[in-house]
Amino acid sequence: MKKTLLAIATFSILLTCCKTDNATTNKALYLNPNAPIEERVEDALARMTLREKINIIHAQSKFSAPGVPRLGIAELWTTDGPHGIRPEVKWDEWDQAGWTNDSCTAYPALTCLAATWNREMAKTYGVAIGEEARFREKDVLLGPGVNIYRTPLGGRNFEYMGEDPYLASQMVVPYVKGVQEQGVAACVKHYALNNEETHRHTVDVDCSDRALYEIYLPAFKAAVVEGGTWSIMGSYNKYRGTHACHNDRLLNKILKEEWGFDGAVVSDWGGTHNTDEAITNGLDLEFGTWVARKGGGNPYDRYYMAHPYLERIQKGEVGTAELDEKVRRVLRLTFRTAMNPNKPYGALGSESHTAAVRAIGGEGVVLLKNDNNNLPISAQAKNILVVGENAVKMLTVGGGSSSLKAKHECVVLEGMLNHYKGVANVSYARGYVGDVGGSYNGVNTGQNLNENRNAKELIAEAVAMARTADAVVFVGGLNKSDHQDCEGTDRKELGLPYGQDEVIEALAEATDHLTVVLLSGNAVEMPWVDRVESVVQGWFLGSETGNVLAAVLSGEVNPSGKLPFTFGKKLEDYPSHAGGVTFPNDGPTTYHEDIFVGYRGFEKAGVEPLFAFGHGLSYTTFEYSNLTLSSKKMSKRGELKVSVDVRNNGACKGKEVVQLYVSDLASSLPRPVKELKEFAKVELEPGESRTVHFTLDKSALSYYDDVQGCWVAESGDFEVLVGSSSADIRQRATFTLK
Ligand code: GLC
Repeated sequence: MKKTLLAIATFSILLTCCKTDNATTNKALYLNPNAPIEERVEDALARMTLREKINIIHAQSKFSAPGVPRLGIAELWTTDGPHGIRPEVKWDEWDQAGWTNDSCTAYPALTCLAATWNREMAKTYGVAIGEEARFREKDVLLGPGVNIYRTPLGGRNFEYMGEDPYLASQMVVPYVKGVQEQGVAACVKHYALNNEETHRHTVDVDCSDRALYEIYLPAFKAAVVEGGTWSIMGSYNKYRGTHACHNDRLLNKILKEEWGFDGAVVSDWGGTHNTDEAITNGLDLEFGTWVARKGGGNPYDRYYMAHPYLERIQKGEVGTAELDEKVRRVLRLTFRTAMNPNKPYGALGSESHTAAVRAIGGEGVVLLKNDNNNLPISAQAKNILVVGENAVKMLTVGGGSSSLKAKHECVVLEGMLNHYKGVANVSYARGYVGDVGGSYNGVNTGQNLNENRNAKELIAEAVAMARTADAVVFVGGLNKSDHQDCEGTDRKELGLPYGQDEVIEALAEATDHLTVVLLSGNAVEMPWVDRVESVVQGWFLGSETGNVLAAVLSGEVNPSGKLPFTFGKKLEDYPSHAGGVTFPNDGPTTYHEDIFVGYRGFEKAGVEPLFAFGHGLSYTTFEYSNLTLSSKKMSKRGELKVSVDVRNNGACKGKEVVQLYVSDLASSLPRPVKELKEFAKVELEPGESRTVHFTLDKSALSYYDDVQGCWVAESGDFEVLVGSSSADIRQRATFTLK
């Protein structure tokens, strides 16, 4: 009997130990990589002290947040930027940390990605840049930017995806997914209405709810609802009186309630200005706040959501409900990234990354004009002249937070020399002097662009060489200096800087084979456009700039890019500058053009652009025929199938972006003449024909009714317009929405 009792006692003690062990295992629930994230979040939250909760929702250094060291909850490391992984900076400084292993691949600027109109390129981009962020052990990539191109003077337009909300929506989603497949969070920015740089911290934007919902929010909504972005960055500006980084309507009402965003709202660096608003208006993670470094103690404790928040709780002025919600979102972001058990290893500067740069650039370059088949450069050309500072100047350094330390940047002249080696002689003339500087936050290009000759002498040299050249390629545009394509400043005029127009005019007199290549993220005036044979919008192409442009100019790559924004003939033609509207603005500013941004405004005003939204030529030509609608009537719950035949009737293979616009022929509220609602990029061999299919539902027909506060698809007649650009409609058909 005794033995039995002893055995039972022993067994029950063992069981208790096991149970205790189980209890121990349960204690590690938040560390259990196989547990559902929401359970990990709640378990970790329950274990955190009040101070730990306060610490985790604000930065501990320039680009990192502390996690919870006691519980083994990892730090969160963020990094710029949208075009490549920023070189390491010091713990609490913008200056370089001086690492030697933090050079990166410089990807084309996002205007170039948008210009590809190729969703697969956006995925390729996101995967590649996500791999580099992962390799550098960064958890949050501070990009992409999707603010709408409202004005051609906007300093950061080069970081964004153009003037059309549908195009930006379609291109941001694959980028976000590609990045996040690497266990790195995208941080889509700058939410919202960041459309000027000069007074970006104090401009107080107001616009109608139609403009907000139809133009400025769709790309952010797509990033959240379709892309599942894990974080969003608030913008510096105010919206209707309150800073966007803690704006109740933008963050709580629209982002979190209407769209169901479950990620973390990150402030822009220095975008937080008020503790009480930060507590209640939806900010989750505070970075970059400008606090005095002197004054003793840890400056990061002086952040708005640090000790000031803690004190309000300790005094009983506020509860901890908002704090717990912020902590949940930061923990969720951490478990999705830094503590994600499935995150891959990443890669840096791999061949696939270089291939991605060339593919994206090759599909993004836009052939704007090409008279007399001036391009591709004749295979018989033996003497090619390259002119212009932008043919030799590195453009990956500068421009603000998207500035990079690229492993290598192949400039245009290098690319042309590479391509024509042994085939033709490539010579160079400076043409003009722009910005001879070449450094940003301690990253130096190492280039010496100093020039002693004056403008007249430089032009004379270029003209003399052009007279004997078989082909002349002028490479100009903008650069990453202040008041060019650069964060923190806006452009002062639409024209080209540095006297480039004079150089181009002089070259046009000296040759009948002149190509002007513009490297920029913005539209520019072209007073010389009728006197040059070819114009190419080359964007900022990153590490492979020269190889990409040499491939396009030589015909090795047939250009297939389409403009993501309108090139106007003059500044006043833009709806955001018409009628003497001022720019930039400080303080309260209303977007008077409302929904009529970009081509929507040009078409409403009947103003002909220099080059239209969606425009881009090819070395071949495409023919459209047989536009067919599945029905002449569509019900509101139904769909409309649209098909069109596209044929390559030229002599070389090419890609065409088939664009579908919808026009509401009669609406109770003002609507644009037409709006982009679908597009597809197809590659066709010479003579090949393809039927391209689209499906429209009522969302493609709806407008936002800011009286009812909802989207409305009004019964009546609509027109489908299909073409090669917004100004080159090839096929049209009407139908009726019942
Ligand atoms: C900058 C930019 C933002 C960037 C951040 C960190 O001011 O507005 O885009 O990601 O601060 O550098």
